[in-house]
Amino acid sequence: MRDSKVRVAVLVSGGGTNLQAILDYIEAGKMPDGEICAVVSDNADAYALERAKKHNIPALTLLRKDCDSKEDYENKLLALLRDHGTEVVVLAGFMRILSGEFVSNFEDRMINVHPSLIPSFCGKGFYGLHVHEKALEYGVKVTGATVHFVNSIPDGGQIIAQKAVRVHKNDTPETLQRRVMEQAEWKIFPKAVSDLCRKIRKGKK
Ligand code: GAR
Repeated sequence: MRDSKVRVAVLVSGGGTNLQAILDYIEAGKMPDGEICAVVSDNADAYALERAKKHNIPALTLLRKDCDSKEDYENKLLALLRDHGTEVVVLAGFMRILSGEFVSNFEDRMINVHPSLIPSFCGKGFYGLHVHEKALEYGVKVTGATVHFVNSIPDGGQIIAQKAVRVHKNDTPETLQRRVMEQAEWKIFPKAVSDLCRKIRKGKK
């Protein structure tokens, strides 16, 4: 609809701290051009679903095991997103690689947060805590987070924002993950979502 807020669907798989950061950003009045229309999880136990419910946001689950194939999964996901009037898709710890065909439905309208400075420690197999394990194994002194558009190459889309975070001497994957979230992801991701909504809404006027 002309001049209505941009409808954002958030795809999740786990704890949903990045979803929470977006919810807090909205609640603080920092996202005037966007609203969350649905949260969709591929994991029924994802705490992210509880976070959505607390905000009266439709919290939906679509399990891979209930679908015949990856194609079937993506068709059902697309139908769910369309049912909720989705204009922008935000991947907030969604642990599933989406096909190029699916992604093409949301060209320049789908963004992801990744817990490293792309092009380091990214691509297939690099997700969640593994990313920080690999960064520590390699011995980097600086890591960080990246927000990028999603295209058909895993973690290969155009970079929108990055923030560097220092690695400490005694870091474990868990302590490093937490610092990257606090100092980078929760800051750059909500802002990137808001900026994208502003740009899209401006185009509607
Ligand atoms: C976040 O660190 C996010 O960057 C990462 O998973 C975590 C999800 O945490 N995503 C990826 O690794 C995607 N390749 P959250 O559920 O608390 O937001």
